[in-house]
Amino acid sequence: MCGITGFTGKQPALPFLLQGLSKLEYRGYDSAGVTLVNSRKLKTWKTKGRLSELEKKLPNDLAQSCGIGHTRWATHGVPSNMNAHPHMNSDNSISVVHNGIVENYAVLKKELLEEGYTFHSDTDSEVIVQLLDFYYRRKPVMKEALMRTVKRLEGSYALCVTSIYEPNTIYVAKKESPMVLGMSKEGTFCASDAPAMLEYTREILPLQDGQFAILNKDSLEVFDTDGKPAEKKWIHFPYDVQSAQKGGYDSFMMKEIHEQPSVIRETLRGRFRGTHVVLPNIEALDVDWNEIHETYFIACGTAYHACIYASGLYQRYTGKLSTAVPASEFRYSSPNVDGHTLCIFVSQSGETADTLAALKLAKAKGCPTIAVVNVLGSSIARQTDAVLYTAAGPEIAVASTKAYTTQLVLLHVLILKLAELYGVRVKGIGALIRDLKRLPEITEEVLKNEPFMKKCAGMLKDQRDAYFIGRQLDYPSALEGALKLKEVSYVHADAYYAGELKHGPIALIEKNTVVLALATQPDVAGKTISNIKETVARGARVILVTDQTMRADEFKYVVRIPELTPSLSAVPCAVLTQLFAYYAAKEKGCDIDKPRNLAKSVTVE
Ligand code: AGP
Repeated sequence: MCGITGFTGKQPALPFLLQGLSKLEYRGYDSAGVTLVNSRKLKTWKTKGRLSELEKKLPNDLAQSCGIGHTRWATHGVPSNMNAHPHMNSDNSISVVHNGIVENYAVLKKELLEEGYTFHSDTDSEVIVQLLDFYYRRKPVMKEALMRTVKRLEGSYALCVTSIYEPNTIYVAKKESPMVLGMSKEGTFCASDAPAMLEYTREILPLQDGQFAILNKDSLEVFDTDGKPAEKKWIHFPYDVQSAQKGGYDSFMMKEIHEQPSVIRETLRGRFRGTHVVLPNIEALDVDWNEIHETYFIACGTAYHACIYASGLYQRYTGKLSTAVPASEFRYSSPNVDGHTLCIFVSQSGETADTLAALKLAKAKGCPTIAVVNVLGSSIARQTDAVLYTAAGPEIAVASTKAYTTQLVLLHVLILKLAELYGVRVKGIGALIRDLKRLPEITEEVLKNEPFMKKCAGMLKDQRDAYFIGRQLDYPSALEGALKLKEVSYVHADAYYAGELKHGPIALIEKNTVVLALATQPDVAGKTISNIKETVARGARVILVTDQTMRADEFKYVVRIPELTPSLSAVPCAVLTQLFAYYAAKEKGCDIDKPRNLAKSVTVE
């Protein structure tokens, strides 16, 4: 996720570009940059760090009335001045900002290198400006050069182009990454999201996939993929600036819950070729895979729950030994690990002190290490042997939601890769990969249960406790559900293996105690249902999450997840329990995005 702004008009462009980018900083903030155009040249300023760092670099007297701007959330190439956008062609005549992922950038880059082009960054985005240059030199018509360029791009993009050839014009194109357009008496503008332009107008024109647009100071033209004029569908934007930054949701947590379909899609992008798993940096590791005897999955909090899930999956798919350990335990446990032990670390921030210390210990002991991280260029990402990035974008709410589900998905992909490297054939892999790819739509479907989960959360109104139960791969989902509820609503919550209830915890069940039961694993779901009946007999109010087939007529509150390979149901379960926690917190009037006593990134022990 990145933030983009563009302005061409009758007054200086910079104020719009900067105020717009400041409203989009929730989309990314590891570097920022702008290009301003006058008739003879492009002037570009960019820097690593937040927008405020860029503002310090800018002279006061910038009067150019056309320009483009960008704040970056790095996906290819660490946050740095060099990798910051805009990117320019070699004679500095064309400038481009991009949001999205160019999946085939390596192929395009190779082609362009062979044509004599030089590259100045590690980004996928730079190929766009070089490709534009390539086509523009063949036929100097920018509209055609842009059409030919975007036809070559696989993946997602929202991009803006400005050049010395048409100094008052901005070209815009979009596929699968957001881009909105607007006009006012000041000029014509574009941005990744409406908050950037709400100070100027509330009439917004969202660009559709495959469309592109040409912006001039008093005109705005939209075209379809073939370059024919397209119908403009304006909408009136109903929110004020503050709520618009949250996409109209009242909290970042809710916005991030709803972003899950798209970030799961991004995380899966380009990971499979048929049933072959495409993770080149894992293949490139200098590891004798037959000599790996044991694997540790290590993390903290929510990421640790992703590890428990991954460990169960790993044993199931590879038949090899594995253990999930909290990083705070691993680092002090004098672990008996060596070059035959693979250590996999999971972290949203990539800066969690315990996880980083555990990584350093594993490396000191000679273990091969892999990290699944969300923040590009973070400490854990830099120090591990190989890093895989979730594409969750910035997670602002303290309670982790989209980072967790993207971890589940990417760990799944990684484990399939490891099975491949061990020479183990995973049964039903074709169907599994098909279902992994369906997860964005399935998540969309599961989100429709929001009103139902809100109703269920209402059961907690006068309750101080709740219990989450599940077996096998439902157990990490129970743990995560309980953690989410605790941290945002302050309702005391515990999670148990369903079969463990009768060994003690059932003593806590009394009239109206809330039990959320997860029974999505067909082999053991019937057993979990029997355990729930034991709680109902003691007065519990049960919310049952199960699959499409399980008989559950005797329960009043049942939510069925869409048909899916059972090992993937942790994703729908996470979405449902996130909604449950959110509405419990809302009912109790809690500060949902900033729960008491917690910090987003725990960089101290
Ligand atoms: C989860 O909602 C919490 N914010 C917390 O448990 C978090 O997952 C944990 O601190 C680990 O953080 P990390 O993923 O950034 O390493």
